[in-house]
Amino acid sequence: MTDALATETPRTDPAIWWRQAAVYQIYPRSFADANGDGLGDIPGIVSRADYLAELGVDAVWLSPFYPSALADGGYDVADYRNVDPRLGTLEDFDRMVAALHERGIKVIVDIVPNHSSDQHVWFQEALEAGRGSAARERYIFREGAGDNGELPPTDWGAAFGGPAWERVADGQWYLHSFATEQPDFNWDHPEVREDFLTTLRFWSDRGVDGFRIDVAHMLTKDLSEPLPSRAELEGMPQDGTHPLSDRDDVHEVYAEWRKVFNEYDPPRTAVAEAWVSSPERRARYASAEGLGQAFNFDLLVADFDATQFRSIITENLEQSASSGSSTTWVLSNHDVTRHATRYGLPALEGSPEKQGVAWVKAGGPADWVDRERGLRRARAATLLLLGLPGSTYLYQGEELGLHEVAQIPADQRQDPSFFRGADFDGLGRDGCRVPIPWTASGPSFGFGTGDAHLPQPAWFAEYAADVEAADPDSTLSLYREALRLRRLLQAGEQLEWTETGRDDVLSFARPNGWRVVTNFGTAPFDLGADADHVALGPVSDGALPGESTVWIAPAALVR
Ligand code: NOJ
Repeated sequence: MTDALATETPRTDPAIWWRQAAVYQIYPRSFADANGDGLGDIPGIVSRADYLAELGVDAVWLSPFYPSALADGGYDVADYRNVDPRLGTLEDFDRMVAALHERGIKVIVDIVPNHSSDQHVWFQEALEAGRGSAARERYIFREGAGDNGELPPTDWGAAFGGPAWERVADGQWYLHSFATEQPDFNWDHPEVREDFLTTLRFWSDRGVDGFRIDVAHMLTKDLSEPLPSRAELEGMPQDGTHPLSDRDDVHEVYAEWRKVFNEYDPPRTAVAEAWVSSPERRARYASAEGLGQAFNFDLLVADFDATQFRSIITENLEQSASSGSSTTWVLSNHDVTRHATRYGLPALEGSPEKQGVAWVKAGGPADWVDRERGLRRARAATLLLLGLPGSTYLYQGEELGLHEVAQIPADQRQDPSFFRGADFDGLGRDGCRVPIPWTASGPSFGFGTGDAHLPQPAWFAEYAADVEAADPDSTLSLYREALRLRRLLQAGEQLEWTETGRDDVLSFARPNGWRVVTNFGTAPFDLGADADHVALGPVSDGALPGESTVWIAPAALVR
């Protein structure tokens, strides 16, 4: 194999590096713990910079590392322009950016604009200043219903369960779309708007290359009286006029942000986390006048199924082309059951293969997961994704083939959704946030020097990075090789489907002759002459085994 075609890919153009980037998501508190307090930290990330470089990712995205009371794993931000002292200092942050940049790795940080922590100085001021004060205007305070205002203003529910309103000491109520400790900002307030511009500049000035925008579709709200009921809200169209979600006017905010991004050279990038009703609505967030890119989560909720994959891929490529952006692919993140586990759960009788549902019904016992099959399918799905045009977001630990940890005792869980009755596969999101194993032995599997903040199971030893680095057949070795070859394959952003004669086998070609073939079924698929050109993936007797993917190199590249 030669590197002859590795020229002029988007990653070599500094202004559009993000279009086909492989971005590795770090959940900082669970990545690497340098000071031994059980929480991952920024110096821990620096200590693993070489690992990230060897893995071959183009960028890292850091989930929040800001000061936080950790009511929602850091998505309750108390100070947007600082580092949580348990995770380090701003100087540590600068060292981390330098260490990653030296290795050619870009840095994306998470911005959480819909809500702050209730510990944020503005919210504390609002509580003290009392009803009618200017300080309360930065959040959403209302009088309650009932004779004495003793009932919440509406019957709206919060995403993590329970009511969306909380009463404060003087009797007013504030809106929190997520946990009680996450009051929603009032985006009609000029100071709120201005403060986020300051935050974007603050991190851009420190060398950050891009931003991931948390619940980007929820910022602006129409709260004119009378407020609708929950049932009325649910009946309202999601066409840009809904009072709480995906409003057209949210794009005025992002147009202002774009101006800030474009003050920098190269312009800073952004990707929206926008749970909206259609790919058409999502494309608005990805426009060049707005955030520029938006997450496509369709594969997070799809089954391991050729028909579903093909239609999702086709539709998303069309949509991203229409917005001029590039699409994004995600199989795992810090909010969902890891894909190796989802794909290893049994189908429920009478239901499509909704692994998440099976997991809930099973209460998560270990023997419900066929780990081997789940991982086999996960490797196949990841190889398919890495061969697609667009950028791919990888979640820490998936390169080790790590499974979800279901067996976390209730008294050690942290996710507010577990305690407040929201769904999230019935077990909350802690199972994908368990600190990752670096070594097969030693305290906390090399994560730190003491216990980790979430309990790690004994089986983590099998997935440790040191074990996998030494094994050419490991998932880590597969990811490294795929990320290396991806730089050859990603020249050009088109894809052309090739018919395979089988409904459960997908095959597509990239403009420079690379091809990707995925067998979603269990019967082997005969590769014919392609069997001699396999650059990556398993071949057995000239055939592609079930539940696997191969990359076929252009003839010119084969020795
Ligand atoms: C989406 C984030 O990914 C999730 O972890 C968080 O709980 C909510 N937004 C609220 O910030």
